[in-house]
Amino acid sequence: MNLSGKRVLVTGATSGIGLATARCLVDMGAEVWGLGRNAERLEALAAGGLGGGNALAFDMLDFDAYRDFVARLPGFDGVVHSAGIVENAPIRYFSLEKYERITATNQTAPLLLTSELVRASKLNPKGSVVFVSSISGTSIGTKGISAYAASKAALVGMSKVLALELAPKLIRVNCVSPGMVNTELVDNLSSFSEEAKKIDLAKYPLGNRYAEPREVAGVIAFLVSDHASFMTGQNLVVDGGYSVQ
Ligand SMILES: NC(=O)c1ccc[n+]([C@@H]2O[C@H](COP(=O)([O-])OP(=O)(O)OC[C@H]3O[C@@H](n4cnc5c(N)ncnc54)[C@H](OP(=O)(O)O)[C@@H]3O)[C@@H](O)[C@H]2O)c1
Repeated sequence: MNLSGKRVLVTGATSGIGLATARCLVDMGAEVWGLGRNAERLEALAAGGLGGGNALAFDMLDFDAYRDFVARLPGFDGVVHSAGIVENAPIRYFSLEKYERITATNQTAPLLLTSELVRASKLNPKGSVVFVSSISGTSIGTKGISAYAASKAALVGMSKVLALELAPKLIRVNCVSPGMVNTELVDNLSSFSEEAKKIDLAKYPLGNRYAEPREVAGVIAFLVSDHASFMTGQNLVVDGGYSVQ
């Protein structure tokens, strides 16, 4: 796939799926603008080369800063919303604070960023917006993460509405829903013991393993590319066959 001539904004570009996506898009010729918080990782991202793009610090929870921040950005042909968090919160120990943090990061932030980009006319015609959702909340339930599941299901719902609202500008809006992926987000799942992980890995039909971040990045790149020029409002599942069982 050749993405030369495309400028793409990637949130969560300092780690995991967002980082793999930024690298994949650059390899395909795109100019990538990567967002994250961690200063060291942003430096490393920029040092790796972004095809003329930029690595910028931005806290997605700083909602009051969005409008000014977006005003300083150029126009984009693609936006990949990968920034996200997961926290274990079984319903018995429900915490409103956790729920609000997860919802704000995973659901409000990508919607607000998209809205500000549209308002400022910074999504170019024939552009592509990709939300990173999850099979949790959209295809399956996973114990302990109701707030996360709700936020990921919300992205799929929102994307169908935005697909229609932005179609007159020929802007496409889609989701990618991974199963488990080998990233820090999974490493940090405190509720997940080694034993539980072994049992879970065995449930993945394609090789009894989790995805590598680049395997999700390739599908995101497809949605960004013109190969997906007539796809909008869709949700592509990347889970090695887990959810069709
Ligand atoms: N890994 C999986 O198994 C899996 C499965 C399904 C869906 N997903 C989804 O895929 C996306 C990426 O997950 P990942 O596994 O790549 O996670 P990750 O390795 O933990 O990376 C998360 C990224 O989000 C950024 N981020 C988090 N909160 C932020 C904030 N307030 N402001 C700015 N950036 C923020 C982090 O930036 P800094 O580190 O710079 O703070 C980091 O770049 C998430 O939306 C996740 O829900 C993951």
